[in-house]
Amino acid sequence: MKLIVLGPPGTGKGTISRFIEAKFGCEHISTGDLLRNEVAIKTSIGKKIRYILNKGKLVSNEIAMQVLSKKICSLKDGFVLDGFPRNIEQARLFDELLIKQKISLDLVLEVDSDDKVVIERLSSRRQCVNCKRIYGHHVPSKKVGVCDDCGSKTIIREDDKPKAIKQRLKIYHETTKPLVDFYSNKKLLLKINGNRTLEKIFPQIEKIFKKVV
Ligand code: AP5
Ligand code: MG
Repeated sequence: MKLIVLGPPGTGKGTISRFIEAKFGCEHISTGDLLRNEVAIKTSIGKKIRYILNKGKLVSNEIAMQVLSKKICSLKDGFVLDGFPRNIEQARLFDELLIKQKISLDLVLEVDSDDKVVIERLSSRRQCVNCKRIYGHHVPSKKVGVCDDCGSKTIIREDDKPKAIKQRLKIYHETTKPLVDFYSNKKLLLKINGNRTLEKIFPQIEKIFKKVV
């Protein structure tokens, strides 16, 4: 299964993608995690984009395509793409890449949540620096600041400060949301309500997978 998970910051794209990876074996590709890794290991790209990420703005399409292409080209089986594409131009470039690689998308899952809900969630999020597992108020680690899975430390993301969250939401509504129509026109879009608990969302995703596969 090859799918995109689309939705505002904090709607649960990463959490849902990790569930899909664990349950159905599709590799989780988060362009946000890939870009944050470039920053963490201080590559030339990382040095260029650090400030952009921290402010909650989008990196250039060229850089986003660069980190993504490396990953997609090495994938034979399914993938779940989280945080890409982010605008119409990226979606067009991605279409070209898929044609070149002879890959066809099965589904674009839109996970929609209200701004109020995501702001509350992001204010309590922590992420493991090593395995990237995501924690939050409703999904806490057993020991605060320590990952249950690998024992590494969990941190608060730089862009989870109120000003950057506001900026990310603005960009989502203005730039990314038009992708809903883009993929709806291609008959690939399926929308789910991200405001609900994960206990409600995960079984719905399992049902969707059973239907689409
Ligand atoms: P990215 O890392 O993709 O961030 P984002 O889109 O802002 O989304 P988040 O990761 O904040 O939220 P999420 O939807 O994954 O939610 P999560 O599962 O963590 O991008 C970061 C930055 O990288 C961008 O701003 C940009 O600078 C750059 N970038 C990335 N891709 C790019 C691209 N293609 N082009 C250009 N720039 C790009 O959940 C959030 C919290 O809620 C957690 O605490 C979780 O435990 C909790 N939670 C999740 N679901 C639920 C639920 N149902 N109920 C209760 N709590 C829940
Ligand atoms: Mg995420």
